[in-house]
This record gives sequence, C-alpha cells and structure tokens, in this order.
Amino acid sequence: MMARVAMTGLLLLIYCINISASRTNFTDESALLYLSLQMNNLTGEIPQSLGFLSRLEVLDLSENDLYGYVPSSIFNISSLKIIDLNLNDLSGNLPNDMCSNLPMLQYLFMGNNGLVGELPSRLDKCTQLVALSLSYNRFTGNLPREMGNMSKLQDMFLGWNKLTGSIPSEIQNLRAIQHLSLEITNWSELFHLLWGICRLW
Ligand SMILES: *[C@@H]1O[C@H](CO)[C@@H](O)[C@H](O)[C@H]1NC(C)=O
Ligand SMILES: *[C@@H]1O[C@H](CO)[C@@H](O)[C@H](O)[C@H]1NC(C)=O
Ligand SMILES: *[C@@H]1O[C@H](CO)[C@@H](O)[C@H](O)[C@H]1NC(C)=O
Ligand SMILES: *[C@@H]1O[C@H](CO)[C@@H](O)[C@H](O)[C@H]1NC(C)=O
Ligand SMILES: *[C@@H]1O[C@H](CO)[C@@H](O)[C@H](O)[C@H]1NC(C)=O
Repeated sequence: MMARVAMTGLLLLIYCINISASRTNFTDESALLYLSLQMNNLTGEIPQSLGFLSRLEVLDLSENDLYGYVPSSIFNISSLKIIDLNLNDLSGNLPNDMCSNLPMLQYLFMGNNGLVGELPSRLDKCTQLVALSLSYNRFTGNLPREMGNMSKLQDMFLGWNKLTGSIPSEIQNLRAIQHLSLEITNWSELFHLLWGICRLW
C-alpha cells in the first residue's frame, strides 16, 4: 500500500515534469505542493528538472539509494518549507549561497550521505530554519560564524563529520537551540559553549 501511494507520487512527478517540458514557459506551471517518495528504493541521480516544480513546499526523498550531486535547481524553489534527503548516497558539496532563495525553509535534512567540502557559509540566509541535519557526512573545515544568526534554529545536528577548528563564539547566539550535535574534542571549548548557551535560557 505504501509502495503504491509512493508510486503514484512518482508518476505524478513524471507527469508534472512532462507537462512543464511540453510548454515554453516553465514558471508557475506545476501545482504540485508535496512530493514524498520516502523509502522507495529509488536509485539514480536526482534530476535537475525537479526545479520545475516551482510551487513545491515539501520535498522528501529520504531513505532511498539516490546518488550524485544535489541538483542546484532545487535551491531555487522558493516555496520549499521542507527538504529531506536524509539517508541516501549523495555526494559533492553544497553551494555557499544555497539559502539565498529559500526564505520559507524550516527543515533541511541531508544527513547520512557522502557530502564533502565545507559547510555552506551562508546557511543563515535560510532565516526561518528550525531544524538542520547534516550529520554523518564528510564535511570539513570550520563552522561558519554566520550560523550564529539563525535565531529560529532549534535542532542543529552536525556531528559525525570531519569538521575542525574551534567553535565560533557566535554559536552562543543561537537562542532557540534545543538540540545540538557537534564534534567537540576540546573540553574547555565544550564547557565554554554550554555556559554561553545556557546563559540565554
Ligand atoms: C511566464 O509566466 C509568468 C507567470 O504566469 C508570467 O509573468 C511571464 O510573463 C511568462 N513569461 C513568458 C515569457 O511568457
Ligand atoms: C525495497 O527493497 C527491499 C529489498 O529488496 C524490499 O524488501 C522492499 O519491499 C522494497 N521497498 C519498496 C517500497 O519497494
Ligand atoms: C535560479 O533562478 C535564477 C533566476 O530565475 C536563474 O538565473 C538560475 O539559473 C537558476 N538556477 C538554477 C540552478 O536553476
Ligand atoms: C550574520 O553574522 C555575520 C558574522 O557573524 C555578520 O557579519 C552579519 O552581519 C550577521 N547578520 C546578517 C543579517 O547577516
Ligand atoms: C581548547 O580551546 C581553548 C579555548 O578556545 C584553547 O585556548 C585551547 O588551546 C584549546 N586546546 C586544544 C588542545 O586545542
């Protein structure tokens, strides 16, 4: 039953893309708001053409076998509230400006993939973000200071990567934070951070 519902979703997606592709003006063509194909054994790359679903609010492709890059076109769907690509085999890095056109995004999940490179420097431009998971990837480098601007962020899961460097003091400005996972190897830093965050409560 689950599989059938999801298959219908996939057919709907293909249908919408075909409709879009058969017209010349791609803007506002697709009314699909919700695309959930979670746990469907989907394999292959995520098509750039997903970007045609210009009113999409929920994109859930989690728990499949998708590989390749995260297509940049999805970061142009400004209506998105949820992006869930957890538990796939996605690779490559995320663009620094990926949040420039995502003013409504509340949930961004890309954990348990093979993403590399540095964390996008301006995730704070997703100003409505409530939950972020990029854990269990292979991100390197520092935590960007700008992340301290994310005033609505409640859950931030960045553990199980290869992040290095010290935690910027701006992280203590995350006033809504409730759950935080980070790799911290320096005890003095950990206590400093906890003190900083708890002070806000
Ligand atoms: C495409 O559609 C949008 C919204 O309906 C409209 O504003 C725009 O003028 C159209 N562009 C072309 C080239 O037809
Ligand atoms: C996915 O594959 C597994 C193992 O082959 C199978 O047991 C499961 O039913 C499949 N799920 C769907 C939604 O097709
Ligand atoms: C995003 O949208 C802008 C403006 O509509 C366009 O120029 C750009 O090519 C789009 N990027 C992607 C990756 O689709
Ligand atoms: C976000 O943070 C950076 C560095 O911490 C700061 O320079 C910037 O002005 C902040 N505010 C906004 C709205 O980007
Ligand atoms: C741990 O962090 C403190 C404060 O940021 C720093 O002074 C110290 O050198 C760090 N220790 C190690 C082993 O990195």
